[in-house]
Amino acid sequence: MTTTTLLQATGLHYTYPGAKEPAIRDLTLSVPAGKKSVLLGRNGCGKSTLFLTANGLCRPDEGTVFWQGKPVTYDRRSLLALRRDVGLVLQDPEQQLVAGTVAEDISYGLCNQGLPDREVKEKVQAALERFQLTELADRPLHQLSLGQKKRVSLAGVMVLSPQLLLLDEPTAYLDPSQTRRLIEELEQIHQAGTAILMATHDLELAWSWADWVFVMENGRLVMQGEPHEVLVSAEELEALQLGLPQMVALWQALPVRWKEQMTNRDIPRSIDEWRARLAMFDSRKDEKPGYLLKR
Ligand SMILES: Nc1ncnc2c1ncn2[C@@H]1O[C@H](COP(=O)(O)OP(=O)(O)O)[C@@H](O)[C@H]1O
Ligand SMILES: [Mg+2]
Repeated sequence: MTTTTLLQATGLHYTYPGAKEPAIRDLTLSVPAGKKSVLLGRNGCGKSTLFLTANGLCRPDEGTVFWQGKPVTYDRRSLLALRRDVGLVLQDPEQQLVAGTVAEDISYGLCNQGLPDREVKEKVQAALERFQLTELADRPLHQLSLGQKKRVSLAGVMVLSPQLLLLDEPTAYLDPSQTRRLIEELEQIHQAGTAILMATHDLELAWSWADWVFVMENGRLVMQGEPHEVLVSAEELEALQLGLPQMVALWQALPVRWKEQMTNRDIPRSIDEWRARLAMFDSRKDEKPGYLLKR
């Protein structure tokens, strides 16, 4: 096992108590260090269950979860350590937030880790500032908007300085400006050295943001790779009921002759990249007639 894998799962099976079908079946995957990964797949395919398994909240019926090469064990101490290293932000902040006020909630995980009071205070203060929550510090959680609750959840996880951040559909129910702000925050988190794995339905976000893409279907991992490998086949993605990112569809609609000598790796992933490509197509137009034949 290489050191570039943070979290690895091999042959995982998990069936919820009383459920007829397994939520996860024979799932094997490695979450790379240093990357921004997304986990795609339609509702009910097992994304959230995988996350619960990844930080020890669900114990697999079969198979093993490895953290930095070591099999996860399920005693209290090991689980505390695992949950410090693997931060999980649940989709529904109501399930994540436990304490009365914002500051109390952010301190909860630190207290659980048994840190001294003074250190807890300092870290909470820093997290409040970093996530621009200082003004809300003493606000009861039930008075917050959903967007604010989600920020508090993220702050409460990041305050433990995890090495891997798992985000379960973090953009669900956020408006466009809240989503932009979250993405900026994730950029900072990633730059500071935390690997991120985000479960999402947002193909556009997956296309423009991810370094690595996992696709699950019916409890299994069915595809993985870089965005330009995984998110380019309309047929395959249609079969998984996912569809194609708009930027990919647009690229595929361009005349073939424009894209000569280009590969899927050249498909733009941002508006700036589109500008650069379009400027290039435009400049080629001015070259001498027949330039394509001479190549
Ligand atoms: N607490 C639970 N008890 C029983 N079945 C569950 C529970 N949570 C999820 N499931 C089932 O497990 C499967 C995977 O669900 P989930 O991991 O939530 O998928 P996703 O996050 O991809 O939507 C689904 O069939 C779902 O109905
Ligand atoms: Mg889910």
